[in-house]
Amino acid sequence: MRLQDPFGWIDEESRGRERAGLVRTLRPRTAVADLLDLAGNDYLGLTRSPEVITAAATAASRWGAGSTGSRLVTGSTELHAELEQALAGFCGFEAALVLSSGYAANLAALTALTARGSLIVSDAGNHASIVDGCRLSRAETAVVPHLDTKAVRHTLSAHPGRRALVVTDSVFSVDGDAAPLAALDEVCHEWGAALLVDDAHGLGVLGEGGRGGLNAARIAGRQGVVATVTLSKSLGSQGGAVLGPAGVIAHLVNTARTFIFDTGLAPAATGAALAALRVLQGAPELADRVRTVAETLHRLLTARGLTAVRPDAAVVSVRAPSPRSAVEWATACRTAGLGVGCFRPPSVPDGVSRLRLTARADLTDQQIAWAVDTVARTAPVGALAPVS
Ligand SMILES: Cc1ncc(COP(=O)(O)O)c(C=O)c1O
Repeated sequence: MRLQDPFGWIDEESRGRERAGLVRTLRPRTAVADLLDLAGNDYLGLTRSPEVITAAATAASRWGAGSTGSRLVTGSTELHAELEQALAGFCGFEAALVLSSGYAANLAALTALTARGSLIVSDAGNHASIVDGCRLSRAETAVVPHLDTKAVRHTLSAHPGRRALVVTDSVFSVDGDAAPLAALDEVCHEWGAALLVDDAHGLGVLGEGGRGGLNAARIAGRQGVVATVTLSKSLGSQGGAVLGPAGVIAHLVNTARTFIFDTGLAPAATGAALAALRVLQGAPELADRVRTVAETLHRLLTARGLTAVRPDAAVVSVRAPSPRSAVEWATACRTAGLGVGCFRPPSVPDGVSRLRLTARADLTDQQIAWAVDTVARTAPVGALAPVS
C-alpha cells in the first residue's frame, strides 16, 4: 500500500498560488546597498545612523548579545528600564513596557485588556497582528468598516455596560491613511470603552517632533487610552512597546503572555532604540521632513497619471491593476535600481494589489524625482489614468 504524503496538500496550495500570481519569495539583501530603498520602514534613516549603531554595539558589549531570559526572570536590564521611561515620556504616557516586537506588543495589549465576554471593535483595515490579537483574546470581535466612526458608535451602543475595547492602527500600513483618533476617543469616552491605538507608523512621523499619532490627535495620556508602537520603523531598531497608565502596564507585566513567556528584547536592540529616540529628540525636524517627502512623492506620482492615496504619514500606496502586474512592476523597478514594496492579497483587506513606497527623511530631492520617474516609466498598462 502506498502511503499518502502528509504534506501533499502543500504542493496543491503552492500550485494555486502560482496560478493566482501570489507566490512570495525571500530576497536576501547584500550588505552594500545596490538599490535606492523605498520599500523598508526606516522612515528617519536611523538604522544606519552612527550614533544608533554605536549604541547597539556598546549595549551588546556591556550587557551581552542576548538578554538571557524572559523580562521577569533575567531579561530586564537597566537599559530596558531607561528605554521604557524615555518612550513613555516622549510619547506622553505614564508608563511603557518593552516587548520583543510590535507584533508581541499588540498581542499583549489585546489579550491582557480583554477577556471572554468582552467586546472588541476593530477597524477592517487593521494590521495582521491586531487581527491575531483579537483571535487570541477569546473576546467577541466586531469588525467595522474602515475609518467608520459611526459604525464604532453603533456597535458600542448595542452593548451598553459590556467591557469593550476599540482598536485601530493610527496610520494604516497598506494605504498610509490615518484613523480619526480624536473622534474615536470621544466615542469611547461616551460609551466607557477603552481605546487601543497601534502607532507603528505614527511614531517618529506624526505629532510634535515625531511624538506620534496620539500626540497629533491630542489623546496621548488620556484616561482609557493605550498605545502600542514598534521600535523597528522610525527608531531603526527592533522590538515593540505598550504605552499607557501605570496600572495598565503593571497589569500587563502580570498577565500578558507574550511578555511573560518571551525572552526579553536583546540589549543591542534596546540600546539602539534608545539612541534613535535621543537622535529624534535632538532633531525634531526629521518628522517634518519625512512627511514632506511623502507628500512630494504623492504629488509627483499622481502628476504622472498614477493612482496614489494621499499620504497621512510616510507610506505612499500606488494602485496596481492585478497581483501579477504588481509583482512585475516591482521587479521592473528593482531591475532599474529602485526597491519598492509590493502588497497583494492576502495582505490587502480589499483585494487590490499595490506598490508601496515609503518616504524617508534622508532622501534627496534628486532621489525622489528619479524614484518617481522609475515607477512611472515601468508602470503596467492599466496603472496609468487614461489621458482625457
Ligand atoms: C501597523 C503595524 N503594527 C504592528 C507591526 C508589527 O511590528 P513588528 O514588526 O515590530 O513586530 C507592524 C509591522 O509591520 C505594523 O505595520
